[in-house]
Amino acid sequence: MDRLTRRKFLGTASLAAAGTAVGPWVLRAGAQSGPIKIGVVLPYSGVYAVLGESITQAMELVFARENWTVAGRKIEMIKEDDEMQPPIGIRKTEKLIDSDKVDILTGPVHSGILMGMRDKVHNSKTILIVSNAGADAISRERCSKWIFRASFSNWQPNQPMGEWVAKHVSKDVFITAPNYQAGKDQLGAFKETFVPAGGKLVGEDYPKLGETDYAPYLTKIRQSGAKAVYAFFSGSDAVNFVKQFDQFGLKQSIKLTGAGFLTEPDVLPAQGRSALGVITGHFYTPLLDNPTNQRFVKEFQAKFGGKMPDGFACQGYDTAEVIVRALKAVNGNTQDKLKLVEVIEKSEFDSPRGRFRFDPKSHNVIQPFIYVREVREVAGGLNNVPIDKVANVADPGTGCTLPA
Ligand code: PHB
Repeated sequence: MDRLTRRKFLGTASLAAAGTAVGPWVLRAGAQSGPIKIGVVLPYSGVYAVLGESITQAMELVFARENWTVAGRKIEMIKEDDEMQPPIGIRKTEKLIDSDKVDILTGPVHSGILMGMRDKVHNSKTILIVSNAGADAISRERCSKWIFRASFSNWQPNQPMGEWVAKHVSKDVFITAPNYQAGKDQLGAFKETFVPAGGKLVGEDYPKLGETDYAPYLTKIRQSGAKAVYAFFSGSDAVNFVKQFDQFGLKQSIKLTGAGFLTEPDVLPAQGRSALGVITGHFYTPLLDNPTNQRFVKEFQAKFGGKMPDGFACQGYDTAEVIVRALKAVNGNTQDKLKLVEVIEKSEFDSPRGRFRFDPKSHNVIQPFIYVREVREVAGGLNNVPIDKVANVADPGTGCTLPA
């Protein structure tokens, strides 16, 4: 040691010091440790609670398949109940972004909550994978480079149905939906093709979201002379509307049609035979004949006590699949958000609904098909049997210019 020159000694010492100071920092920058936090804003109470449950279950199915670990990092879901109230959904979003510092955000179900979350998500550059809410504006004038939608825009399941109903069911139709943005979007999309196909709207009505007594509306429908009804209701609204439509004696003379949410398997058991014969448009039915769907239905039923997966579960599956694939592509590094956006944009895989991909124009999923389905009794009970389909249904994306 005493033969060491001062110069050599200083050199060795500073290297050693640099080693302790720099070593761990270099490690952290190279490979992030700690869990990957997925923030989830969904309704676990209220009219759409059954939707929140299906989405969550399917996400958990996918993460469990990965042993809750991607690229050596644990996946942690932080779930928040938005209680179907926009101010609560927005507050929970702020908490997940500002306090929990989530890596990726998912949800919500309610279009009004999505619209309320939008600016916070966009301004904080938080990646949001929408797992239900269909607000058309999010694929159009309010689109954001940080927002992707793995579910649908409200336009998508309804636009092909206008022409189909006019051609195959009736030209005298009464339309109805809950009185909020999703209701307006969905019926608006139906009208877009129904009226040019020669359809006549004999009436239009918007009960409040969460209505439990549809009698006044059913009276109006009876008096309108409608030959068919086209409706968007979901969750407990769908149960009440479909059952009361039957109890009111309208089923014998007026054909009930609508957006797929009206008779999804989350509500079919409660609707029972009242739902028989209802015709709806949707991007999914658990009866789809492809290997990914067959495996999904089997695994979902095995994990959740025989429960039939619905379109919401398919959305949860795809949301989790997009997340897992993107995290693998960046080797678990969630710091480079632009890189994450880039790999999410390129997501493409076999989903239970068919080949999944985002429209680069709007970041909204392109539906491989919109199926026209009829509720029939099949092996395993009541289900939505596909009777017709329209391929490659992409939201028009009007007014969206990405990257923005
Ligand atoms: C929505 O608010 O966007 C919404 C809610 C329930 C559905 C579909 C869309 O089933």
